[in-house]
Amino acid sequence: MDQETAKIIINDNVHELPVITGSEGERGIDISRLRALTNYVTFDQGFGNTASCSSAITFLDGEAGILRYRGYPIEQLAEHSSFLETAYLLIYGHLPTAKQLREFSGLFTNHSMIHEDMKNVFKGYPSTAHPMGILASMVCSLSAYYPGIDLVDPTPKQFDGIATQLMSKIRTIAAFAYKKSIGEPFVYPREDLEYVPNFLNMMFSSPTRQYKIYDEVVTALKVLLILHADHEQNCSTSTVRLVGSAKANLFASISAGICALWGPLHGGANEAVLDMLETIHKEGSGIDKYIDMAKDKSSSFLLMGVGHRVYKSFDPRAKIIKKCAHDLLHKLGINDPLLEIAIKIEEKVLKDPYFIERNLYPNVDFYSGIIYKAIGIPKDMFTVMFAIGRMPGWIAHWKEMVEAPGGMKIGRPRQIYVGAKTRDFVPINKR
Ligand code: SDX
Repeated sequence: MDQETAKIIINDNVHELPVITGSEGERGIDISRLRALTNYVTFDQGFGNTASCSSAITFLDGEAGILRYRGYPIEQLAEHSSFLETAYLLIYGHLPTAKQLREFSGLFTNHSMIHEDMKNVFKGYPSTAHPMGILASMVCSLSAYYPGIDLVDPTPKQFDGIATQLMSKIRTIAAFAYKKSIGEPFVYPREDLEYVPNFLNMMFSSPTRQYKIYDEVVTALKVLLILHADHEQNCSTSTVRLVGSAKANLFASISAGICALWGPLHGGANEAVLDMLETIHKEGSGIDKYIDMAKDKSSSFLLMGVGHRVYKSFDPRAKIIKKCAHDLLHKLGINDPLLEIAIKIEEKVLKDPYFIERNLYPNVDFYSGIIYKAIGIPKDMFTVMFAIGRMPGWIAHWKEMVEAPGGMKIGRPRQIYVGAKTRDFVPINKR
């Protein structure tokens, strides 16, 4: 089939640019040579129309509400897979055999502890420190504890080690940050517990209390971690790629991704949704005032957990999480008024022309906090949970980028300069 091209006409000159077609039919105009050919660059604030790379990890179709990890629909993975199996799939590109999963899981068990010296770092934080700030710095600090490994160019075996160590230790760091915030002693990981139960035990057991691990809670948390595991070129994943493109090591790249995720327009939205629902509940005057504020352009208020850069029909994750929240609260016998408020907001949003015209629907963050709250995870740990879930995605994208055929290029966007034209310096006594 002939190579499809796009023609750009500038000052009566016709320039033909190649078109790239993805495996799901997505097409992109390859502008790699645009500036050389025309001395023009493109302008796309927020990169809503710009593909930064080609990737085989995750496919999503915002119009059809489709999300697949390496071709597998997230609905099937959420129901049938484990978080570690999904992580293996994202990082290595195929579902593991039983032997491969056993070996992969064994790496987690052997590396769930953090170096005792890192415990001292926790002592330097005030109990009020936000756990995302602790997580970002502790993940970057992990790079100090692998003197024998070339972190910039790890061998495949070394990569397997640091990738599983990161995924295993981030649980421990998160749980220790929580214990620090409530003034309780750290609870160490246990070798007899799997990924999610181990995290729950570190979070909620203590020297005087053995936390009872309910299957329903483990299942709900597993589903949330799987649904957060990757989402192609979102803000934090693009950050991991950009930082990694400078040949920064995996720990530094992911630490930068954690910082990006912290923003309330991104991963921080799940914490902001609970703040919003609690405010509405406390005020007790219903949701209409907030729906109106969200539509009022003179107000900076946004309905947190609503809207998405890519999903313009519905976020498939939100559908699964909403059902998971309802089922868990029912099984735990919890009647949370915030869930009722969230459902009422969703019903309004789905009917209101303002939101319909702008393709605004509940996203992954809208219901997830209801589940975290039911489990007993505090609000300021919600985005930490998002980070734990997104780790395999970040790691998979870093790996795919550094292994890119043809080599990795440092990310360096252009700009359109709109500042002052050239002018001479004026000494301060003449200003
Ligand atoms: C995540 O990218 C990913 O994949 C991210 C993520 C992942 O898995 O990594 O899915 C996770 O970050 C989900 C998003 C979580 N953030 C929130 O829930 C915060 C609330 N949402 C908004 O901030 C917003 O919807 C964004 C940031 C999510 C998307 O913003 P866009 O794509 O830049 O869209 P926009 O801001 O240009 O909005 C278009 C219109 C505007 O109105 P008009 O100027 O056209 O009149 O929609 C309005 C916006 O004002 N709008 C909202 C709104 N979100 C957009 N109005 C009210 N409430 C909202 N929440």
